[in-house]
Amino acid sequence: MKIKDEVAKRKTFAIISHPDAGKTTLTEKLLLYGNLIRSAGTVKGKKSGKFATSDWMEIEKQRGISVTSSVMNFPYKDFQVNILDTPGHEDFSEDTYRTLTAVDSVVMIIDSVKGIEAQTIKLFKVCRMRGIPIFTFINKLDREGREPLELLEEIEEVLEIETYPMNWPAGMGKRFLGIFDRYNHQFIKFNGNEAETHIPLSEIEGFEELITKEEFVAASDELDLLNEAGNQFSLEAVLRGEQTPVFFGSAIAPFGVQDFFDTFITLAPTPGPRKATEGIVAPDDPDFSGFIFKIQANMNPAHRDRIAFVRICSGKFERGMSVKLSRTGKVFKLAQSQQIVASSRDTIDEAYAGDIIGIYDPNAYQIGDTLIEGKANFEFDELPKFPPELFKKVMAKNVMKSKQFKKGIEQLVQEGAIQLFKDKRTESYILGAVGELQYEVFKYRMENEYNVEVLFEQIGERIPRWLKTEQVKESLFDDRNLLVRDRNDNYLVLFRNEFSLNWFKDNHKEIDLIDLFEVNSYG
Ligand code: G4P
Repeated sequence: MKIKDEVAKRKTFAIISHPDAGKTTLTEKLLLYGNLIRSAGTVKGKKSGKFATSDWMEIEKQRGISVTSSVMNFPYKDFQVNILDTPGHEDFSEDTYRTLTAVDSVVMIIDSVKGIEAQTIKLFKVCRMRGIPIFTFINKLDREGREPLELLEEIEEVLEIETYPMNWPAGMGKRFLGIFDRYNHQFIKFNGNEAETHIPLSEIEGFEELITKEEFVAASDELDLLNEAGNQFSLEAVLRGEQTPVFFGSAIAPFGVQDFFDTFITLAPTPGPRKATEGIVAPDDPDFSGFIFKIQANMNPAHRDRIAFVRICSGKFERGMSVKLSRTGKVFKLAQSQQIVASSRDTIDEAYAGDIIGIYDPNAYQIGDTLIEGKANFEFDELPKFPPELFKKVMAKNVMKSKQFKKGIEQLVQEGAIQLFKDKRTESYILGAVGELQYEVFKYRMENEYNVEVLFEQIGERIPRWLKTEQVKESLFDDRNLLVRDRNDNYLVLFRNEFSLNWFKDNHKEIDLIDLFEVNSYG
């Protein structure tokens, strides 16, 4: 019974956004509500002088170390909250995508002034492909942003997901009055620097000053329209990832943030069953199981250790327990476990489905590996492969080192640090990554772990599309649209840009071009 109760408390999610939309600011507010930090500014560390996650990452990176996502966990009300960080900016990498395989829901932040931006679209696609429930927070209402209706339309059109506004703003920027909270039937009044006030809609008539204002009347009319002609709220559709509840607010004020969080945390799903080779694994199954979604090398330079991040899928984790690595059948004792909480590492003694633990990697684990307790033998569904976007040719600086070079590449590729391709004609090695950081880490690790200096030759951003082997016609491709093979000897074309891709599609309708994002969503 205990396991079931513990699982029912878990809310494991990630916050996704384009850089500058307000992810750090919002996260910080959530950490404040969870009493994980005491004052605003701690996360960024600018004002308090303390190191924050992001600064800490920068430091680690300068030492050539890959520190990308971390986990923040804290109790809130009746729940145990796990927030997984999804790095953006120059830290954007395949790890960012993979982190999304370890969460049960996602909060998507959109800047009300800018609307939907490039990185949001990419991350959204991954959520869509995995069917992850998405909750939207439209931020920066204290600024003169775009019209709320226009923002909803943009979400529906660009992301192709139904929206349901959970609240509705009255005015914005200097004329911002507050929001109608449709879900809790109240009006949340914005009072500038003072704390917001909550007025039940049944008592709103008493606030003469407020209800006569033009912005209030306009918002009230829009709301009537939404109630009549807008989408119906459906929690089932939300949980299937087909409808996104939309909240308006301001992370910095903060305004509407705690109300958003309270509603989100109630509606967000708890850990569900997961697909594995031998069927479905229930989160309250008594035996421990989990999968590795990320391996972080050399986090502590003094120890040169590696930490494998495990998403627990069932049972109970206890420090010192023995688990089997499904891929090899080998048994490991999980003596060291750390949960990465902001910038400090704490050791944890027990954890349940939905929790993320960091375990010491004795150089045996790979991304996607399943760990299980007991006699059962199964593996969780393979982690999807994400299409790389940035390509470079790679070679050893010193040709005498080609043996180590091949060995290093082989291992790093197997570990999932980067993807490897071969040019069809020249057989030269081409690396593919989601972001620049992966190249930095690759170079650093080749030098430090395999003692090989590498040289890169820029290919640049390309759009990869896979081909059916029987349809490969070498003569159709050249350096602009490069024909390459992946590790499994499947052919793909690295199209130079959207224009080349569309031109090709129009002129060679007989050839099927396969987008990895679409293939993954069939699974
Ligand atoms: P990110 O993690 O998504 O990259 O965004 P971050 O929270 O760092 O926010 C980006 C900028 O937007 C910051 O300003 C932040 O203060 C501001 N911001 C966040 N939420 C709101 C909001 O609700 N309203 C307004 N008006 N601004 C908001 P900055 O000047 O770049 O940084 P800082 O010097 O203020 O820290």
